[in-house]
Amino acid sequence: MQSQIKLYYKNVTAEVIGAEHGITVSQLKALAEKSSPLISQLNEERKAGQTPYRGLPYNTQIAQQVKDLVGQLKEDCENLVVLGIGGSALGNIALQTALNPYMYNLDDTQRAGPRLFVFDNVDPEQLASFLGWVSDKLDKTVFNVISKSGRTAETASQFMIIRQLLLDKLGPEGLQSQVVATTDAKEGTLRKIAADAGFRCLEVPQGVGGRFSVLSAVGLFSAAMCGIDIDSLLEGARDMDDRVSCEDFYKNPAALNAAINYHFYKRGKKISVIMPYSYSLKDLADWYRQLWAESLGKAEDLKGSKVHIGPTPVKALGTTDQHSQVQLYREGPNDKLFTFLQVENFDTELKIGPAPDCASELGFLAGKDLSTLLNSEKVATEYALLVDRRPCLTVVFPEVNACTIGQFIYLYEVTTSFAGALFGINTYNQPAVELGKEATFALMGRAGDEYEKLVQQIRSLTKIDGEFLV
Ligand code: PA5
Repeated sequence: MQSQIKLYYKNVTAEVIGAEHGITVSQLKALAEKSSPLISQLNEERKAGQTPYRGLPYNTQIAQQVKDLVGQLKEDCENLVVLGIGGSALGNIALQTALNPYMYNLDDTQRAGPRLFVFDNVDPEQLASFLGWVSDKLDKTVFNVISKSGRTAETASQFMIIRQLLLDKLGPEGLQSQVVATTDAKEGTLRKIAADAGFRCLEVPQGVGGRFSVLSAVGLFSAAMCGIDIDSLLEGARDMDDRVSCEDFYKNPAALNAAINYHFYKRGKKISVIMPYSYSLKDLADWYRQLWAESLGKAEDLKGSKVHIGPTPVKALGTTDQHSQVQLYREGPNDKLFTFLQVENFDTELKIGPAPDCASELGFLAGKDLSTLLNSEKVATEYALLVDRRPCLTVVFPEVNACTIGQFIYLYEVTTSFAGALFGINTYNQPAVELGKEATFALMGRAGDEYEKLVQQIRSLTKIDGEFLV
């Protein structure tokens, strides 16, 4: 293993921030006692096939299918467009931002594959602008429509727009050649459409929910098309699997991470801020937000009691949000746990130029590496928070590469499983998302008595009351 990410947790302890806000030695011991049986439980569940996402880093078949398809398509592909939402998009965006250069899409010399565009919304102006650009490049553009169910209104609508465009410009053969569908192996609307149109297909594995699917074809295809080393990504995840399966609580970063999050939630720190100090890692924070929110925000526990539980994940970016959020983080309510993501060695070093003669007060910055400034600001922000007794974790990346990103993804997926077990909830469902989906279907005119009734209920609750419009 080239290098390993580490979780640093001293700055959540009472030793650093005092016993009122920090974790004492006896509290950590109690967390170890509560968590240790859950480590065995999760390992057993995994062996029994109840958490299929745990096996993805070992699935050579998926990786091979992805590589074969990339081999067929890459040479003639200048643009890759992902149509998907939630778990069918956030991992793709996170991998691309983490592992390809900032100017990847704009500078041909900086890209090792097609330009990548991920559409995870239905904003007409955004998509129309893109279509205006891509319409005369369709024969060099591959559309990867990703939807496990195929009935998600956003993805289905985007696909129906693209389908018509491809039919109009390139005909049925063009439609067939330019679309890759990633969906359930057997069932669902997209599977039916793909079979009918003869699309190339990849699978969303059985039992793997969208937010746990980035290490399947869902995330691997766009990554591999764009030159990301998916073998290293999976190798990193396998390395982390060894560490998060360890039965010793104190050596298991996922069990520790989950237990610390659980401890602070139970003591009123219900907001979990993740703050990367690296532009590359910023979209992993969005990916984490969905993973944490959809998995842990639940009305009922496993016994059916109402609990309305769930830490609120918040994304911040260092140093940008020091100038936006840190005033609140230091002086506002002490209701947050902070997790910094820190990179020890950046791929590129950039030296700050000399100070102008008229501004010698800037001389202290001259000649220093920009990464030194970035990491100094991380330490400075952490210090300022610790002075105010705010708990801080850090995930340390020796460097950002496919292997360490694979480790991070797997660490947080398994941390989420541990946290769900500690909260005693079902980590893998998302019942509350369904009502909004059904309401959208109803408002968009889906046929059926139940939808007509739902429209009336929606209108009566949401119609604009002029008296309250100022
Ligand atoms: O994590 C999840 O399960 C969700 O975010 C889904 O990925 C999202 O709702 C999209 O669903 P689908 O892939 O069925 O279009």
